[in-house]
Order: sequence, then structure tokens, then C-alpha cells
Amino acid sequence: MNREIVLTGNELKGVMPLRSETLPLAHLKSLERKGFGNASVFVFLNSYKPAEIAAGYLFNLMKEKKNPVVGLATGGTFEYFYDYVSQNYKNNDCTFKNVSTFNLDEYVGIAKDNPNSYHHYIDSRFYSRIDIKRENAFMPDGMAKDLQAEADIYDKRIASKGGIDLQFLGIGTNGHIGFNEPGTSFDSATHVAKLSESTVKDNSRFFKGSKVPESALTMGMSTIFSAKKIVVIATGKQKNGILRKIQGCGVTEEVPATILKMHHDVTFLLDSEAAHGLSVE
Ligand code: PGA
Repeated sequence: MNREIVLTGNELKGVMPLRSETLPLAHLKSLERKGFGNASVFVFLNSYKPAEIAAGYLFNLMKEKKNPVVGLATGGTFEYFYDYVSQNYKNNDCTFKNVSTFNLDEYVGIAKDNPNSYHHYIDSRFYSRIDIKRENAFMPDGMAKDLQAEADIYDKRIASKGGIDLQFLGIGTNGHIGFNEPGTSFDSATHVAKLSESTVKDNSRFFKGSKVPESALTMGMSTIFSAKKIVVIATGKQKNGILRKIQGCGVTEEVPATILKMHHDVTFLLDSEAAHGLSVE
């Protein structure tokens, strides 16, 4: 049964700045927590709204905390998010001057200036458009000579900043988060991961004929789980199958995103295509 719940202004506090023209009240549905553990799940008819609401969480954090630490995702899902944040942070009285960021992952063996690298993605779509201090914007270096040492340093850097306050995540069609593929231990720290066949296939759309790397440096499952708050965006019908699977199965390393059911503060922001057929009671 599909039940539409219109949230009140109070319930939306903490979700986004209360600017009436951006409130999607009529479009907001809340799924019961059924199948998503402790997480809150919101579904929007408009596929742009999840990113806009996610931006609201970021703006709120930037206003509330003096030196916020933010975990960033890349991929197709987040392209509009970075456009929206870059264009709107100033109108929301925010600055990135005191913000530190940590990207989730980077391919191994791809130079920073390669257009397929996540360095290039985040630089061109985000850092070059905001007032962040580059020394506070961290990414794993997929060209490091000693990749394991690079992974270890990454977790230490996150810890030295006090941990991640707000982590943004996309979900792979196979349930991966970061590049933690099915079967990755929930205890893993940042590490070198081998990409699964399905991920190589999914990401080949960005590589236009050139070879997709076989491995990546990724924040580990425990690194991600340590974030104080996690906001997941999933949009489009290609994410419907994995969301149904997450809702229907228990917490298992075979479906990495199921770890999120156990976290104390996770919000899923979905569009109606991704959420199609998810059960609500
Ligand atoms: P996508 O990737 O946003 O390109 O679909 C999501 C992910 O693999 O985490």
C-alpha cells in the first residue's frame, strides 16, 4: 500500500533550510522503516530533489559546526549535487573555508589529471567552484607507490580531523558503497579493492572505450560506518533492483550497503524510479 505522508515544517527541520520555494512537501513520502533497519527513507517524485535535500543537510552542518568534516561521493548520481551545492552555498550563507573533505575512493593507476579520475571529477565539478582551502580537501592517491601505506595514512588523516561528521554515499547496482564490493569485510579500513565485473561494466560508460581500471583505493566499510551521519542518494530505475534487495535481505557482507541498516543515523533519499515497488505499510 502506498501511503503519502506530508511532513510538517518541524519534521523537516534539520533536513534543509526552510525556504518555501524549495520544499517538496507534496512530493515527499516517508517509507516506514520496514526492511531498512534504523534508516529513514524518503522518496521524491522529482529525481533532482534527493540531491537538493542532501545539499540541505550539508548547509545545515556547515552552519552548525565550526570545522565540519564531510565525506564525499562521486559517480553519476552526484553530478547534480555538486552543481547544486556550488551554485547555492553562498545564498545559504555558507562557506567552505573551514570545511575538510575526504573523498570515498580513487582508481588505482589513473593520473590526477586524467578526465576519468575522481580527482578530476571532484576538482572540475566542485573544488574549482567553491571557496574550499585545497589543503583541507583530501583524496586517496591512486598513483601512490605504496598503496597500502597511502590507505593507512588516509584513515589516520580522517581520525586526526576528528572523524567524518557527514558522509555522502551512492550505491552500486551490486550494493557496493565506495568500492567495497560484495564480500568485503565490515571490519575493513581504507584499502586497495579489486573492482567486481559488474562495477567495471557499470563504470565503462564513463571510460568511452578506454580500459576501466581493475582496482581502486577505497574507504573501508568500518571507515564509512564510523561517520556520525550518512546520507545516501539513489536515483533512476537502474538502482531499483538493489534497493529491493537491500529491503528484502538481512545485514550481510554479500550486500555491502546492508551495513547501513545498523547505523544510528542514515537517511536514504530516493526518487520514485529507484524506489518503485519498495514496500510500505
Ligand atoms: P553511480 O555510482 O552514481 O555512477 O551510479 C554509484 C556507486 O557506484 O556508488
